[in-house]
Amino acid sequence: MASNIIPVITIDGPSGAGKGTIAQNVASELGFHILDSGSLYRLTALASQDDGIALSDESKIAELALNLPVEFLAVDSGLKIILRDEDVSEAIRKEEIGMLASKVAALPKVREALLERQRSFSEQPGLIADGRDMGTTVFPDSALKIFMTASAEERAERRYKQLKAKGINANIAALVKDLKLRDEQDANRAVSPLKPADDAVLLDTTEMSIEEVTIRVVELAKQRF
Ligand code: DC
Repeated sequence: MASNIIPVITIDGPSGAGKGTIAQNVASELGFHILDSGSLYRLTALASQDDGIALSDESKIAELALNLPVEFLAVDSGLKIILRDEDVSEAIRKEEIGMLASKVAALPKVREALLERQRSFSEQPGLIADGRDMGTTVFPDSALKIFMTASAEERAERRYKQLKAKGINANIAALVKDLKLRDEQDANRAVSPLKPADDAVLLDTTEMSIEEVTIRVVELAKQRF
């Protein structure tokens, strides 16, 4: 491989499939950078909510997305996300912001506005990018594309455990409903819908542990790069 080519691994899939956790594990194994593309849509959603911009005002939301004043700071506990001088690491993870992000993400001008910013995360020695259209639109030349799924029930169960560990009350049936609704919105939009790239490796993690999935992705990366 020519030395100027930056290795990129893309992980796409529905909400709660474990993409973020696996991306972090694989990145630390391989020493790669990370792009959590969903966080950019979540930040755009949060900022437009704070500014009181209506969902119908596509141009204004796109302008916000293009100039998003955000900083990603590496700290001992992971990543701190600062929006307009405020730590929003927790605020952007709320279910309601996930749902709003899914709506904002259906706006073509917003996707266009975030495209170059996402591509700018690609740096040596490599990048692992997770989202919905990493392999199809943002990094179509990536040498390793994963499409990660798990049943809606399993994904809701995992989200439930995460929330419970944080002391947040949740209801499994409501989580399943929310996940299915978000999947439907993300898969049925006109621009860059959630779908596997033609050359993606499909990985159903319903019956797999985090360790097993991490090992599998690292193995695939070692074969490809
Ligand atoms: O991965 P996530 O749950 O943090 O993403 C939040 C929403 O953002 C998701 O429901 C759809 C949207 N999104 C997208 O459309 N494209 C991406 N590459 C990443 C996220």
